[in-house]
Amino acid sequence: MTKKQTIFSAIQPSGELHIGNYLGALKNFVELQDEYDCFFFIADYHSITGDYNPKEKSKQIFDLALDFLAIGLDPQKCTIAVQSQIPEHTELAWIFNTITPISELQRMTQFKDKSQNQGKNINVGLFDYPVLQAADILMYKAYGVPIGQDQIQHIELTRKIARFFNNKFGETFPEPKDIITETPKIMSLTDPTKKMSKSHGPKSYIGINDEPEVIRKKMKKAISTTEYNKDIYNFYASLLEEFGTEKNKDYFANQFKNQNLKFSELKDALAEDIANYFKDFRTKRKELAKNPKEVKKILDKGAEKARVIARETMKEVKEKVGLIL
Ligand code: TRP
Repeated sequence: MTKKQTIFSAIQPSGELHIGNYLGALKNFVELQDEYDCFFFIADYHSITGDYNPKEKSKQIFDLALDFLAIGLDPQKCTIAVQSQIPEHTELAWIFNTITPISELQRMTQFKDKSQNQGKNINVGLFDYPVLQAADILMYKAYGVPIGQDQIQHIELTRKIARFFNNKFGETFPEPKDIITETPKIMSLTDPTKKMSKSHGPKSYIGINDEPEVIRKKMKKAISTTEYNKDIYNFYASLLEEFGTEKNKDYFANQFKNQNLKFSELKDALAEDIANYFKDFRTKRKELAKNPKEVKKILDKGAEKARVIARETMKEVKEKVGLIL
């Protein structure tokens, strides 16, 4: 049997996930776990580089674990772990720090964006964040990293760091490739010129864990017009394409073609379809939430599995760098 290739990806625990996060990440994670040796991490160390409330963090970590499991990530098939439970990640990041030119990090567009949004908290961790991300990925010598467009630059840097290391200390890390998913950009419900994001307020997105009545309410308030409008139609059509029933897809495509589409009707139907799409997820998530010990056990096991590899990598790295007596 040939060994499966390794996939690594992670999500930051910083509050609920929305349907754009689902399409951009979780949906693919579920598909990839059957074909690859997958590591899906909760990037808690990354998440503390932003503004946050320490009293909320552990719940956010737990909630993301619930999302992972309820959406169908199977701990029998993939390794699910919390980043900070494997201290080797920060160790490797430190070594990578010593081979990463500052100028490379200064080019990172996400750092530039984030420093604008959190002007009072431009900390060293925020700047160094891509190096920790490289450590996450290279620790497991990943072949591929499923990510969204906004992370491409970080994976490029990861490849460079692998090359810097290999050139200086000998062939050690493969250069990982990004696996970009072809999903339509899901736009904000209140401003379809912007990407769906929690930062635009609770009315602007649909959470994957939203109850049906919440989804209905949000959809009612979502952008609308009584006129014929192709842009607004396309926005809803992209959601319908992903979450709608075949019947609704056909019905509204026809209504639009015949120019008698009612957006209020489309939005109501879409609210029902999205609520149904995540129905099993919500049920499973509630079940799991009743068993926090069980969930913690799964995370502990995941961390244990990951640590075996992390220790091996660190041993090899420390030997090559000259840190073993
Ligand atoms: N920076 C990623 C994000 O915000 C999260 C992340 C951390 C990650 N480590 C990673 C993604 C390693 C892919 C691989 O989306």
